[in-house]
Amino acid sequence: MIKGFSKLSTAEKQKLILEHIGRESDQELFTLTRLGQKETEELITSFSENVISIFPFPYSIAPNFLIDGQEYLVPFVTEESSVVAAAAKSAKFWFERGGFKTEIIGNTKYGQIHIISDISFDLFNSKIEEYKDRLFAAVASINDKMIKRGGGIKTISLLDKSSQLSEYFQLNVGFNTCDAMGANYMNSCLEGIANEINSIFHNDPTLDAYILEVVMSILSNYSPENAVKIWVDTPVSELDDGRLGMDTFDFARKFVRAVEIAEVDVNRAVTHNKGMYNGIDSVALATGNDWRAIEANGHAYASKSGTYSSLSHATVKDDIFRFEAIIPMQVGTVGGVTALHPLTKLSLDILGNPSAEELMKVIAAAGLASNFAAVKALTTTGIQKGHMKMHLSNILSGLGATAQETELVKQYFSDKTISNAEVEYYLKKLRSE
Ligand code: MEV
Repeated sequence: MIKGFSKLSTAEKQKLILEHIGRESDQELFTLTRLGQKETEELITSFSENVISIFPFPYSIAPNFLIDGQEYLVPFVTEESSVVAAAAKSAKFWFERGGFKTEIIGNTKYGQIHIISDISFDLFNSKIEEYKDRLFAAVASINDKMIKRGGGIKTISLLDKSSQLSEYFQLNVGFNTCDAMGANYMNSCLEGIANEINSIFHNDPTLDAYILEVVMSILSNYSPENAVKIWVDTPVSELDDGRLGMDTFDFARKFVRAVEIAEVDVNRAVTHNKGMYNGIDSVALATGNDWRAIEANGHAYASKSGTYSSLSHATVKDDIFRFEAIIPMQVGTVGGVTALHPLTKLSLDILGNPSAEELMKVIAAAGLASNFAAVKALTTTGIQKGHMKMHLSNILSGLGATAQETELVKQYFSDKTISNAEVEYYLKKLRSE
């Protein structure tokens, strides 16, 4: 048990960690990846607590995304090799076939005040209607600013949840948060409304007989009404990029089958959707958005039928191949880390400073592109060929290969199956020659 870790200075924290791993003399361990720019380092370390260093990830660009007729260079942050290469290849493929098309499905996010009370639903509901103006007035100072930006609280409605949990009610509040993700705004409104409900219950004599407990007030990261629909389509005959290596009709049929499998089988569905989130998370991270919230949202949406399923769907109709998905997501292009981190600001600049809705489209395109690339590889060459080729560089740096060794090993494995063991064996052999 370590007491008071947070109170230590950064240097003391580092010393403690070095002692913990028995590398007391390894002073450079924490500075290896530092930026060398004091102000930026201080800014970044201020985002979290108990910071002992800065943990950099590769910051990449996947070019050639054509979305609703507009071209984008899309910033990705990911540690997984081949994600960017696959997404870029897929983006180029669809660029040449009309690009991604999108449609925004609503912009309403919800938050809930979770209440336990012995009151009847009808009486509670009538009181909510009676006092609705007061509920709005209680948070006017916060809400008015969002109204001025074109958003604000849209709906307040009481839901009877007592069939799921005894005496459980939910006050469901719908918000439009414009270009902000809006977490602080929504949570402040919810807590303000909750306080007002408490005060109404204490002061309205017709409610004296009832007890009410506000258990919690919090936004929901589930937003089926704040989603983007995205699709690509092309005549089946256009699916060959010159390297398909199989008949386009056979490929389309096999691709559709692979997606159908992900629609009915949870083992496949999770991995299939993970391939989509390879792209989504990378762009979310590069733009300072909360990828955990975006992931949780999508996986809940993938379970909306009661069974976890594929988020994307593929069809061939009248010789047209179509691949599409509806992806719920809450993103922001103003506020939060988005406005602070120098590289998230750069990412937004590279994307042409999009609105939140435009960013949703870009993130969805990164997701569909990644998903297409993965399923295409799986149904044609298999995933390992491309993946291990990209992974070879990682294996070689892990083994401390020199530039010359890297070149020789890459040449040797250009027509062979790559595995960690084989690469290690071949490198040893090279070194002993
Ligand atoms: C690996 O990060 C992602 C894949 O497993 C996705 C998929 O199987 O569809 C290749």
